[in-house]
Amino acid sequence: MNDAPDLYETIQTAAAYVRTRDPRPWRVLLILGSGLGGLADKVQNPTRISYADIPGFARSTVAGHSGQFVIGDLFGVPVAVMQGRVHFYEGHPLWQVGLPVRVAKAMGVETMIVTNAAGGIHRDFQVADLMLMTDHISLAGLAGHNPLMGPNDERLGLRFPAVTGAYDAQLQRFAVDAAREANVDLKQGVYVCVSGPMFETPAELRFLRIIGADAVGMSTAHEVVVARHAGIRVLGFSGITNVARLSADEGEPPSHSEVMEAAPRIAPKLHAVIEGTLRRMHGAR
Ligand code: HPA
Repeated sequence: MNDAPDLYETIQTAAAYVRTRDPRPWRVLLILGSGLGGLADKVQNPTRISYADIPGFARSTVAGHSGQFVIGDLFGVPVAVMQGRVHFYEGHPLWQVGLPVRVAKAMGVETMIVTNAAGGIHRDFQVADLMLMTDHISLAGLAGHNPLMGPNDERLGLRFPAVTGAYDAQLQRFAVDAAREANVDLKQGVYVCVSGPMFETPAELRFLRIIGADAVGMSTAHEVVVARHAGIRVLGFSGITNVARLSADEGEPPSHSEVMEAAPRIAPKLHAVIEGTLRRMHGAR
């Protein structure tokens, strides 16, 4: 919900603070999900800004999310990497979940690459698979937890934005080509955003499969909705950290440690595909 005291002012104040630390404009915002933050170490000439230092920002409270921007050049592209994000289930209002994306827009960002850890629902998905997001279902958003609810400031975007084709077709082609080149078996599918923080019941997972979801997670859709509202192009990836148990007697229940254990097996594939994608974006300029 857009119930910040004054959202536009909050964005400008945060961006002004960021500029005092590093005035370089950003071109791509990269959001790295649970256990997937290592790519930030490849940023050249980095400036690190902790979310805790930025006016208006919420603090990330989850293990595996360190909570900082790493600003610099990645494979020739000026980026801001979000090492860690804030989640709705941590109790932060949705305007704060979306705030980093809006600050990124104010810093000049045109493209967002968003990643997450997710549970695999598609029958063919296995732990450590990487999935290109072709679309999402925001169950949280459809049920009334939508970052665009509340008064709309036309300076930020339209009252009724379209989210058709939210995941940019050209960027998806770059990602598919990059995966092929790097010999990564890139799956494709629809991500469903639930609020969390509990993992889903087997009955909920069967429901999610019926409505067309291939992977389930607790983030991303809110940031994507805010990005599309702001006119930012989006590319998304889900790292499959566990596979859904569709009946109660199938194997062990999911856990956060299972998610964190799988992440290092996914990170090299994700990094190769993002590198190839950024290089293609750089070449296409
Ligand atoms: N469900 C929801 N969120 C997740 C999961 C899951 O199984 N795995 C990683 N994030």
